[in-house]
Amino acid sequence: MPAVVVLGAQWGDEGKGKATDQLGSRVDYVVKFNGGNNAGHTVVVGDEKYALHLLPSGILSEGCTPVIGNGVVVDLEVLFDELDGLTARGVDVSKLLISSSAHVIPSYNRTLDKVTERFLGKRQIGTTGRGIGPTYADKMSRVGIRISDLFDEGILREKVEGALEQKNQILVKIYNRRAADIDAVTDELLSYADRVRPMVADTSLVLNQALDAGKTVVYEAGQATMLDVDHGTYPFVTSSSATAGGAATGSGIGPTRLDRVVGVIKAYTTRVGEGPFPTELNDDDGESLRKAGGEFGVTTGRPRRCGWYDAVVARYAGRVNGLTDLVLTKLDVLTGWEKVPVCVAYDVDGVRHDEMPVDQTAFHHATPIYEYLDGWWEDISGCRTFEDLPVNAQRYVLALEEMSGTRISSIGVGPDRAATIVRHDLLD
Ligand code: GDP
Ligand code: IMO
Ligand code: MG
Repeated sequence: MPAVVVLGAQWGDEGKGKATDQLGSRVDYVVKFNGGNNAGHTVVVGDEKYALHLLPSGILSEGCTPVIGNGVVVDLEVLFDELDGLTARGVDVSKLLISSSAHVIPSYNRTLDKVTERFLGKRQIGTTGRGIGPTYADKMSRVGIRISDLFDEGILREKVEGALEQKNQILVKIYNRRAADIDAVTDELLSYADRVRPMVADTSLVLNQALDAGKTVVYEAGQATMLDVDHGTYPFVTSSSATAGGAATGSGIGPTRLDRVVGVIKAYTTRVGEGPFPTELNDDDGESLRKAGGEFGVTTGRPRRCGWYDAVVARYAGRVNGLTDLVLTKLDVLTGWEKVPVCVAYDVDGVRHDEMPVDQTAFHHATPIYEYLDGWWEDISGCRTFEDLPVNAQRYVLALEEMSGTRISSIGVGPDRAATIVRHDLLD
């Protein structure tokens, strides 16, 4: 029974939630290992539609134990809102486990995230405003607050005091905001302690024991490769490790335990927030993709920027993650084009680049070199085998597979759990 990482191969919103949910009933543990409630996963089960932010998508599958790993940053208010919302809809959330080493997002970091963005003006990142960046910065600066700190009032107060000594200077003197109150922040965090206590576990131990016992564990990434703090389009990235290595550090298992790394990738490309995006379409074609794909953010409601499939990005994701499989999503959205352009390389100031340019300036100057594939007109949402697809759709998938360098194991043809063509079993 395998340990499988499911991650985004582009700039997020590839359909990771659906991909994980689909494995659901055959999975024993689903682990979120990075990010926080900046994520937004829509999962459609029959007539029911769920929007998950902080909880891993596996929570919707009966029998599956959801785990929030040490690499996650947890907004406790959001955690309980999300749990309450799911409980009200009849979802059993009682099995949730949370790492005692996960960091919490204190309210002052939400404030700092928003005011920093305003301060940056034209240079802003376009963050989700959830306090993600400042909380990871605190973790690295060793002034963060962890779940385990909630259970020792003296330590918690000391840590809040230590953090606010710096933060209040910044809030007041740079941003002209009110200082955060040490007691109010401490009391708010303490108010969650009793409720979170029974969920807290040594999740590294739990997961290693599960793997020893031959259980199936899925590691579900938030965000994506091109938003990864090391491998993405820095500085227009999130602040966590959304690539495969993050699954190990963010959950406390060794990399040797991972059997498969699955990259989820759209049949075209989208991006939310600022930053370079070579295949972006700022015209009617982009608008058509946005409309056909319903490309509006689950977390912030922002319209997603849309463009064609980028095989350079796919190959790069294959390389930095060691992908074993791709899950191609939203193929149905591409129905109805005479020709579908696919980016095979970049032109950077007159020089062809088949691989991702290493420096930021070159990537900002990259313009796509396209190959034009034949489109199809038939509704493919009812297709359930590869052979059901119109021949040009089959050719499109095979061409993407060839250009991307990783086999395409599953193809999404609609938002519902059932709307999928499986070519290779991801848990085999
Ligand atoms: P995630 O953040 O990677 O989990 O992706 P999001 O949930 O933010 O965005 C993906 C959107 O595409 C969601 O609304 C899904 O319901 C939808 N979706 C996923 N797979 C497919 C597919 O194959 N076809 C279509 N039409 N929609 C899909
Ligand atoms: P899922 O898991 C798409 C983007 C933000 C911004 C940048 C930094 O649903 O794929 P942050 O708030 O993380 O500091 O913002 O990252 N971003 C996402 N874009 N999908 C996501 O998550 C994202 N999470 C963050 O728009 O550009
Ligand atoms: Mg999303």
